[in-house]
Amino acid sequence: MEALSNRVTTTLTWSNSISTSSLQIPQVFSIRCTQRLRVCCASDQSQKMTVSVTGATGFIGKRLVQRLHADKHSVRVLTRSRSKAQLIFPVKEFPGILIAEEKDWRDCIQGSNPVVNLAGLPISTRWSPEIKKEIKQSRIKVTSKVVDFINGSPEGVRPTVLVSATAVGYYGSSETQIFDERSPSGNDYLAEVCREWEATAFKVNKDVRLALIRIGVVLGKDGGALAKMIPLFMMFAGGPLGSGQQWFSWIHLDDIVNLIYEALTNPSYKETWNSNWVLYFYESVV
Ligand SMILES: NC(=O)c1ccc[n+]([C@@H]2O[C@H](COP(=O)([O-])OP(=O)(O)OC[C@H]3O[C@@H](n4cnc5c(N)ncnc54)[C@H](OP(=O)(O)O)[C@@H]3O)[C@@H](O)[C@H]2O)c1
Repeated sequence: MEALSNRVTTTLTWSNSISTSSLQIPQVFSIRCTQRLRVCCASDQSQKMTVSVTGATGFIGKRLVQRLHADKHSVRVLTRSRSKAQLIFPVKEFPGILIAEEKDWRDCIQGSNPVVNLAGLPISTRWSPEIKKEIKQSRIKVTSKVVDFINGSPEGVRPTVLVSATAVGYYGSSETQIFDERSPSGNDYLAEVCREWEATAFKVNKDVRLALIRIGVVLGKDGGALAKMIPLFMMFAGGPLGSGQQWFSWIHLDDIVNLIYEALTNPSYKETWNSNWVLYFYESVV
């Protein structure tokens, strides 16, 4: 409850620091968030879990692992590189965290519950045809592997919950439409990536509760989109973004982590969830 109240506060703070009249949140979003508030209070997070996380070394995963570890859950970091993960989660600060490279993922997934899947090549690079292929394939490959390991787990040690990332790119873009979970997919490249990514996750055994989180741009000061933008503005090299008329949907890092955390234990989280605030830019915003 507190986390989502904070979301409202955060949003209002943003509007004050930008321009009170510049931020417009469509009523439909306020209503939807109030509905979610009720859902979000329902789960019991006191039970200790063993959680396997792919993409744990990334922007969102790192914060999620920190939260899980602080709350005394067992965490299994599924990574492509043990040495990189060990630098991010040094044993002194994260005693008991298990770091596993791909050959050991199967053993980690068996016996852990839930599984969180956040891996994928970052999309914030120059999109050559090769990179575009890798953006899609990296997500499908890891998701497919996770799903196969879950499905192949013997009963009794098979995870019953999979929380898997996807993105609001699923919808394509529009200057006027508001998208929710029932909206159709778009017809651009990112929409295609998200459709195939989600379809791969949907191959998980029907007894497994699947929560697909369609994530908007995640903002937090230690990484992601803001970390790329802020240095430019600090050097006075930043400028207006686009025409000044556009919107983008975003979520604070702590809020997406709280949402994923909640999805681990709350049975109301199944199939697809959007996770965004919509920020509108007007010409008064510089
Ligand atoms: N951040 C956002 O604004 C945002 C918005 C919408 C959706 N999402 C989605 O949410 C997920 C997590 O986002 P994030 O920002 O935390 O991601 P991130 O910081 O880019 O980290 C993703 C992780 O994926 C793994 N990875 C990177 N390249 C890979 C490749 N070629 N093949 C397989 N694995 C690879 C890496 O883990 P290892 O090196 O340990 O294997 C990396 O730490 C991503 O799938 C992303 O698409 C993020």
